[in-house]
Amino acid sequence: MNGKIGVFDSGLGGLSVLKELMKLLPNEDYLFYEDSIHNPYGVKSEEELIEITSHIVDYLLERDCKIIVIACNTATTSCMKKLRELYPQMIFVGTVPAIKVAYDSHCKHTIILSTPYTTKSKRVQELIHDYTDKDQELFNISGGDLAHLIELGEMEKVKALLQDLLLPYQDNADSIVLGCTHYSLIKKEIQEVLPNALLLDGCVGVSQEVKRQLESHHLLKESSSGSLEIVNDKSDDLITRSYEILEEI
Ligand code: DGL
Repeated sequence: MNGKIGVFDSGLGGLSVLKELMKLLPNEDYLFYEDSIHNPYGVKSEEELIEITSHIVDYLLERDCKIIVIACNTATTSCMKKLRELYPQMIFVGTVPAIKVAYDSHCKHTIILSTPYTTKSKRVQELIHDYTDKDQELFNISGGDLAHLIELGEMEKVKALLQDLLLPYQDNADSIVLGCTHYSLIKKEIQEVLPNALLLDGCVGVSQEVKRQLESHHLLKESSSGSLEIVNDKSDDLITRSYEILEEI
């Protein structure tokens, strides 16, 4: 079936989802939209995020996307419901913090690290309610500026902030849910602060859901070669960087 898989995020975080998608569905055509100009999403209001993401959806529709992957926890928890209402003809797959994965993995002391918006969102409260055992301890904390610093490539500041955020949990966290797709790009740095913690994200789960949706709508592409186009609304230099990161992760 013709048509691209549209993927978007507030910048390069979505590459972590894109990577898994391309592994699972290598013959598809991908259009990855990096909204670096509006990064960070995590400090914006729901209204602002709906305005911003509906423009991206318009663009992806114009560019012939058959499904749209919201490779961003913040945009999913704030806008996915509204986007489904606004674009009833489109299939959306979103990304939420992997709290269910922590539950299924029988983790007992789990940090949920997300953007300021996601940490406070109703969706995360619902996931915590649905997927917590009585004997399970959850630390729902905001990563503050982390996604923005990752986007800017400020790695020394990223490392310093990780120390501030995570060291207090060094002795009592067995796992950490990476509730922002940008954080999946700094697993090595997170593991340096919490060497024994299990790192969990939703990237594989999202790619499997995309496959299920394409299969059930008979939209899988029948061909033996796929393609990728990356668009960045801030600078073409960032596109070059993203292709490099995609090779590395
Ligand atoms: N990567 C995004 C997420 O998963 C958003 C980061 C941001 O722009 O604040 O939440």
